[in-house]
Amino acid sequence: MPPPSRLQSIKIVVVGAGSVGVTTAYALLLSGLAAEIVLIDIDKSRALGEVTDMSHAAHYAQARVRVGEYEDCAGATAVIVTAGVNQKPGQTRLDLIKTNYKVFKSIIPQVAHHAPDTILVIATNPVDVLTHAAHRLSGFPVERVIGSGTAMDTTRFRHELSKHFGVNPRNVHAVIVGEHGDSQLPVWSLASIAGMRLRDYAAQKGIPYDEQEMEACSRRTKDAAYEIIQRKGKTNYGVASVLVSILEPIITNGDALVTVSRVGSYAGVDDVALSMPCKLNRSGAHQDVPLLLDEKEKEALRKSAESIKAVLDALEE
Ligand code: LAC
Repeated sequence: MPPPSRLQSIKIVVVGAGSVGVTTAYALLLSGLAAEIVLIDIDKSRALGEVTDMSHAAHYAQARVRVGEYEDCAGATAVIVTAGVNQKPGQTRLDLIKTNYKVFKSIIPQVAHHAPDTILVIATNPVDVLTHAAHRLSGFPVERVIGSGTAMDTTRFRHELSKHFGVNPRNVHAVIVGEHGDSQLPVWSLASIAGMRLRDYAAQKGIPYDEQEMEACSRRTKDAAYEIIQRKGKTNYGVASVLVSILEPIITNGDALVTVSRVGSYAGVDDVALSMPCKLNRSGAHQDVPLLLDEKEKEALRKSAESIKAVLDALEE
């Protein structure tokens, strides 16, 4: 089934034919959101292999998928950047910064040159620092440089809480903000189900509201990637679906609120990229949702902002 006519002009570029890049391209192909998907990778033979394989699924999606060069970023609604090395067992996301910053210094200027009006969607880790680096390297306004950020963690958090409370994750309104990493912040004070705080929902349902179990939910959220990487060596399906969920309101101008990473000011710390709920639409990510954090949450966010800002400043010394 071809995409609706309003999506016929949509071209999305994925830079990086690693597991996250190709899983994202495949998820996007099946979503019907784009008419053309271009995959760019330094290993052209590998990219061609992935695209040839995917093109045998394209019949069911009626979208065109092909290998491209940076010139093909021209006219793209969005360019997703997944290129770089990923975590190995025992590594933190921040351990990847030196290698992946070098990759970005090569990639981002080329994308910006060929597609000066596109929206950059950054997935490479450490995603917050690299979102900020991409903003500086591209010269794009902050609204058009979006990191997948804690959209992944928010998805995992809702999944964990949905299992505990026995409801669909879509009915759990709870977010993780700050760093997509070890200092991420679950916003317990604003978490709700059916318009009720979790403690009140639990009381109404006769479910024990156990602080320890709630902490276990947020700990499983934070450590999920480490556990998956220990078992299978990478993560790809969750983040690919999250990237498509970020693209959807950009492509459809949907004004969806998503916790994505963006350069801004957080708990009094300026010029740093962290995740907060942003309104996503065709012009990018807009910080329209100033969360009413409590004092403890504000302090945790400030510490997270200072630690991430220090990493980028050290990079550019
Ligand atoms: C994860 C990677 C994308 O959390 O950071 O799965």
